[in-house]
Amino acid sequence: MSTNKLFVLPGDGIGPEVMAEVEKIAAFFTKEGIAHFEIERGLVGGAAYDAHGKAISEADMARAGAADAILLAAVGGPKWDGVPYDVRPEAGLLRLRKDFNLFANLRPAICYPALADASSLKRELVDGLDLVIVRELTGGVYFGEPKEIVELGKGQKRAIDTQVYETYEIERIGRIAFELARKRRNKVTSSEKHNVMKSGVLWREVMIDLHKREFADVELDHMLADALGMQLVRRPKQFDVIVTDNLFGDMLSDVAAMLTGSLGMLPSASLGEVGAKTGRRRALYEPVHGSAPDIAGKGLANPIAMIGSFGMALRYSFGLGDLADRVEKAIAGVLAKGLRTADIKGDAAKSISTSEMGDAILAELRVA
Ligand code: IPM
Ligand code: MN
Repeated sequence: MSTNKLFVLPGDGIGPEVMAEVEKIAAFFTKEGIAHFEIERGLVGGAAYDAHGKAISEADMARAGAADAILLAAVGGPKWDGVPYDVRPEAGLLRLRKDFNLFANLRPAICYPALADASSLKRELVDGLDLVIVRELTGGVYFGEPKEIVELGKGQKRAIDTQVYETYEIERIGRIAFELARKRRNKVTSSEKHNVMKSGVLWREVMIDLHKREFADVELDHMLADALGMQLVRRPKQFDVIVTDNLFGDMLSDVAAMLTGSLGMLPSASLGEVGAKTGRRRALYEPVHGSAPDIAGKGLANPIAMIGSFGMALRYSFGLGDLADRVEKAIAGVLAKGLRTADIKGDAAKSISTSEMGDAILAELRVA
């Protein structure tokens, strides 16, 4: 059996708590001989800043680079509000994305029937929802230069962020979206704001070209990003695969996450190009939610998004699609039994803790 090398970055806030539940499951698979995982742990975000004065150390970057997949929980918190911009917790995550060229961020939003009542929308609008946001992750306004605040004198400053995309960046994210759609319901919605942004004009043009050249069998439509935000809360089930830029993707994926009942439910995968030597895509897996400092250390966090992210690693990095199915089935099974963490409690009589939820999922896996 081949060894799957995982580099684990629990990070800050609820990160260590939810990551512990993934480690339980990975240890179970290894012990039972179902799959073999070798786990190394590192520091990212505020935890890394406290230890090394940087948002991630060079040593941990090197270890991340040597792993088959990186699992990251969450970074940030009020404790680090005052630290210099370059070493703020988020810088660690952005560096991992950028240095490993993880340009494709897949953010599925699935509404489990058992949770449809936890959504802020009516049950019939979200029950059975299954869409994926494909967010461009290494370009756009997050990384464009110049990015600065300039002193203008007389108490005035000018802040600049730069939204910039080149053809190849749009093409490669488009390709990921079309290929994914072929395995799903065969529909891509591309989103930008070509009515006000040049980057949107190019984005739309490149998507249309790519579609014509390589993916004419897939249905493609276009929606302005503001309208898409509106449609996501109006009639979310119309979407299959949504492809959009870094900033719009950040916002729209939070909206999509909430449709499913809780931000604590959604996993994500960030993928790079296929390596010439390895034949694998470099990849980082993380929940969509943040570090939730307000509930950290209390056993209240929902570990499902983190466990689901591990499931995505099984599927996309380790070629263990059957095992990924098993993990997803175990999550659905636990929810169907009415087990709930606090964030998805709804009308349930009581909620269970982070580790109880992890144990319940593990128990489902044992019998499956
Ligand atoms: C996300 C987060 C990050 C982002 C932050 C933590 C830098 O919100 O992954 O969606 O904005 O990309
Ligand atoms: Mn976000």
